[in-house]
Amino acid sequence: MAVRRLAEEQPEGFAFDAANMARARREIAKYPPGRQQSAIIGLLWEAQSQNGGWLSEPAIRYVAEMLGMPYIRALEVATFYTMFNLHPVGTVAHIQVCGTTPCMLRGSEALMDICRHRIHHDQDHPSADGRFSWIEVECAGTCVNAPMVQIGSEVFEDLTPETFNRLIDDLDAGRPVKPGPQVARHLSEPEGGPTTLTDPSLYAAAAKPAAAPVAAPAAPVVAPAPASPAAKPAGIAAPRGGRGDDLKVLNGIGPKIEKTLHELGVFHFDQIAAWTPAEVRWVGEHLAFPGRIEREHWVEQAKALAAGKGA
Ligand code: FES
Repeated sequence: MAVRRLAEEQPEGFAFDAANMARARREIAKYPPGRQQSAIIGLLWEAQSQNGGWLSEPAIRYVAEMLGMPYIRALEVATFYTMFNLHPVGTVAHIQVCGTTPCMLRGSEALMDICRHRIHHDQDHPSADGRFSWIEVECAGTCVNAPMVQIGSEVFEDLTPETFNRLIDDLDAGRPVKPGPQVARHLSEPEGGPTTLTDPSLYAAAAKPAAAPVAAPAAPVVAPAPASPAAKPAGIAAPRGGRGDDLKVLNGIGPKIEKTLHELGVFHFDQIAAWTPAEVRWVGEHLAFPGRIEREHWVEQAKALAAGKGA
């Protein structure tokens, strides 16, 4: 684990833009009066997102002042958690390679060698073209699928040097990538299929229809709700008034996803706010991140931003 120090070169200053200031106020309002310092992680996270993916010294100082807490306390938080990047990161991907024991025993050192050769010899330094950066981190909690890397909010597991190189190639070329295991297994199921509890007789009793209780009224049969089919949302040819909203202020949307949304004709918060579940599903599949839009609450975020804009 590298010593976590602030970058030598720092920008002049930092201030939240209007959208992030509104978010910061909402975050602070979650805590009772006098406990606003509890919002420190949320505010540092917003500052990092606004700052191109890394946390500058002026940003840490700004957040400390906003929360009325000593600068050293904010600095302690920023330097402790590896989710906060203290140096400029790659514009395409900042790759966090787990180097803790299970991943190390399953080949994480080879992944770090690839980072050293393809990105930069030293972690926390962007590649020459500024598109990639890397860092070694402690256990990310997917040890059963070791070795793994985390990029943004997604994890890529069961990596080999070959699949890791391919992942970097795909990111570099802007091709869609599939998070999760990079081998033929579902989540953390055994590779090659089940190895235990495979005897069908174990399930025979469960398969027999249970005798209906004598006095119990017949239960109504409720058909499972059909999954909504995916449907492409209608886009518009160009942003209204010649200028779209900055979709990157939504948590989970970076420059690459914003570009894809533009290609789909999505330029404004209110368009995302109006997505139906079927449209959310279609966009998630199109971005090769099924389920992520729901997890990151894009529609709810967009509704709040659209409402704020109209206010
Ligand atoms: S040791 Fe790497 S994810 Fe746990």
